[in-house]
Amino acid sequence: MIDVLLGLQWGDEGKGKIVDYLAANYDIIARFQGGPNAGHTLYVNGQKVVLRTIPSGVFHKHCLNLIGNGVVIDPVSLKGEIEQLLPLQPDVLSRMFIAHRAHLILPTHRALDAASENAKGSEKIGSTLKGIGPAYMDKTGRNGLRVGDVLSKDFKTKYDKLVAKHTDMLKQYGGEPIDWKQWEQPFFEAVEYLRGLQIINSEYWLDMQLKDGKKILAEGAQGSMLDIDYGTYPFVTSSNTIAAGVCNGLGVAPSRIGEVYGITKAYCTRVGSGPFPTELHDETGEALRKAGNEFGAVTGRPRRCGWIDLVALRYTVMLSGVTKLIMTKTDVLDEFNPIRAAVAYNVEGKETRELPYDLCSVDVTPVYESFAGWDKPISACSSYDETPQVFKDYCRFVEQYLETKIAYVSNGTGRDQLLVIP
Ligand code: IMP
Ligand code: MG
Repeated sequence: MIDVLLGLQWGDEGKGKIVDYLAANYDIIARFQGGPNAGHTLYVNGQKVVLRTIPSGVFHKHCLNLIGNGVVIDPVSLKGEIEQLLPLQPDVLSRMFIAHRAHLILPTHRALDAASENAKGSEKIGSTLKGIGPAYMDKTGRNGLRVGDVLSKDFKTKYDKLVAKHTDMLKQYGGEPIDWKQWEQPFFEAVEYLRGLQIINSEYWLDMQLKDGKKILAEGAQGSMLDIDYGTYPFVTSSNTIAAGVCNGLGVAPSRIGEVYGITKAYCTRVGSGPFPTELHDETGEALRKAGNEFGAVTGRPRRCGWIDLVALRYTVMLSGVTKLIMTKTDVLDEFNPIRAAVAYNVEGKETRELPYDLCSVDVTPVYESFAGWDKPISACSSYDETPQVFKDYCRFVEQYLETKIAYVSNGTGRDQLLVIP
């Protein structure tokens, strides 16, 4: 069986830590979408490590790690990540596999990302500028280069052809010229490095592993509300971040999907532009940012903060068929009183529990339910039993609203700060 773990909000729900924890029970961890726009933060022996393209199973000796075909790979970023990991995990390369069919991010994709954002002016998406959108555009536009291409003799010819096209596109955007030529040499060095890694037909490989009874965990990146189809379009990323993306992004059949773990913070954040109904522009929002250290792992940008949005969560739980909820960063709410949760939207005078199709253009006012703050810090609890009754009541409320059980509660950054709910 292949289990799935994904973010239910706008990313940064704490997936890295949870995958690292769950990895103990899996043989293989596989990334199925996204690319170096992801930043999965882990604390290993007190040291902070941010993973972008490499699955969060690398810190477990028994885990194999697969970068699946749905991922877009920047060879420069991947090489840098491996070099950063090698002193900590010398056997990382022998346990890492890359799908032939994964698409490459070229230096010009990054330039196009920047040119597109500049041209959008005040409507900009707030992209991480890693070239994600342009790389996926070339994939669906049937122009892209794939990892397997680096092994072919005419890679440079294919590259030059695509770059010529990109150069024309960059001219059309106008604006300040972007000096992407400086990124070419490191790119080709990294391509050479990539040639030496384990590049495989991953759909056959996964099939064989599944037939061998191996346990696989698909690790999502970004969050469900950033999904290209169901997120807050156009303020989204360019891949399918929901459970359906696992089938496309790894080449596995839906019948092989088992448990779906959905992660949500006890509040909500968003980095980049786009609608965020429960966003707080006041001192409470500021206090959440400070208490939760809400700054982007990839870009360092301050994250926008607000209360948990159960309307949006009910939608994303539905889209992915979440079977187990995981609530993270509950300790961040230790000092807050009251604690709020959006239970409906007031959309132009009408109350609804459905997410409007066009969140970007309608006026939405959240309807809140208030809860008394916890009377004891959650961070100090070492089991769910020890948590205060008000916290347990809050968890029950969330479970009832979302019609899904909470399996784990994370109450700190430490690897061991995770409470199991029986
Ligand atoms: P892109 O995927 O870099 O093009 O960015 C598109 C939008 O998704 C922007 O609002 C980004 O801030 C957001 N985004 C992309 N990746 C992540 C992530 O891993 N965590 C949180 N937000 C992300
Ligand atoms: Mg992140």
